[in-house]
Amino acid sequence: MDNPIFAVAARADELRARGVDVVTLAAGEPQSATSPRVVAAAIDAINDPATHHYGTAQGEASLRNLVAAVATTDTGLPWTGADVQIALGAKHALFLALQAVVDPGDEVLVAAPGWPGHAEVVIAAGGVPIPAPTDERFRLTADTLEQHRTARTVAVLLSSPGNPTGAVHSDVQLRDIAAWAVEHEVWVISDDIYRKFDFTGTYRSILRLAPALSDWAVVVGGVSKEHAMTGWRVGWLLAPEEIIASARKHVSRTITHVPLINQRAALAALHDVDTPAAAAHDYRRRRDFLVEALNEIDGIDCPLPDGGLFAFPSVAGLLSEDGWRTSAELAGWLLDTAHVAVVPGEAFNAPGRLRLCFAVDDHTLHTAVKRLKAALEAR
Ligand SMILES: Cc1ncc(COP(=O)(O)O)c(C=O)c1O
Repeated sequence: MDNPIFAVAARADELRARGVDVVTLAAGEPQSATSPRVVAAAIDAINDPATHHYGTAQGEASLRNLVAAVATTDTGLPWTGADVQIALGAKHALFLALQAVVDPGDEVLVAAPGWPGHAEVVIAAGGVPIPAPTDERFRLTADTLEQHRTARTVAVLLSSPGNPTGAVHSDVQLRDIAAWAVEHEVWVISDDIYRKFDFTGTYRSILRLAPALSDWAVVVGGVSKEHAMTGWRVGWLLAPEEIIASARKHVSRTITHVPLINQRAALAALHDVDTPAAAAHDYRRRRDFLVEALNEIDGIDCPLPDGGLFAFPSVAGLLSEDGWRTSAELAGWLLDTAHVAVVPGEAFNAPGRLRLCFAVDDHTLHTAVKRLKAALEAR
């Protein structure tokens, strides 16, 4: 089956092509533009002939050093630029990490519900994704991971805050997962792409809580979400030497390196701590508005996400045998009737739910909510 996220986007495009005014909360990215400061740095980079030629496979030293410095602040560990590989976005970084640790047929645990990209990237690296059910607040626990571990388990993909659930794991959960991973020699691939969007103030890197995990940890990050730079395709991984060497070799043999202009833009972004902080402030306000509005609709039950960019309500109360039978049917009806695009939970291994992105401007969010309420109340 095609990824339902793309099916929604394709149907929304079809309606737009027919002149319908579709409002979308289906995106998996901030809707704002990249900051003018970053754009200006990219233009300077374009005008610098040094960026017109080959660079190094591992990535520019200036960017790697800054990524290492930020990771040192996050984790308390003494990273250097040698520990960093620059990739074409966090998804590519995840792939590079997985192709280093996965042999064909090896199993990698992924959260269910969870982002489908995690399972897809495991498959791309030759592995088998094994869904591990999350707890009542959508968090992975060491107990569940142990229940799903087999002799072929080589890694777990962890994302906190996560997509689509916004779940932020507790310190105790992260310490337990780290201890479990070290005991069983399982890699923890920590996808920290949403780290700046933690609305509880409790986010801590698993490595800060459990430095002993560092021999078994890969930290993945990037500028895509923090700096509204999904189209620029710059991410990275920090990992032990064997993983970095494998990733460097793979990059060298395939893409040669990430475009230098984009790396310069990412460098400018990493120097800017104000933009992600301001975005987090706005997203928190919009999250509160959206969750409250959704909970006012009969049949919708929306937990308050601790982080991330999404509300992930249950719509089980709206489903029935003689009405919408699934959340996918409901999402299709909302698009056709209210002209609001949302992603059905089926995309995330969570039928009965919808994902709605609140990283949109206030006007879009308010229009979407008004339309959803009107359509569902008039049904
Ligand atoms: C959990 C998670 N990791 C990684 C990514 C991809 O990030 P990038 O655009 O940097 O490849 C996404 C995008 O939706 C995501 O939700």
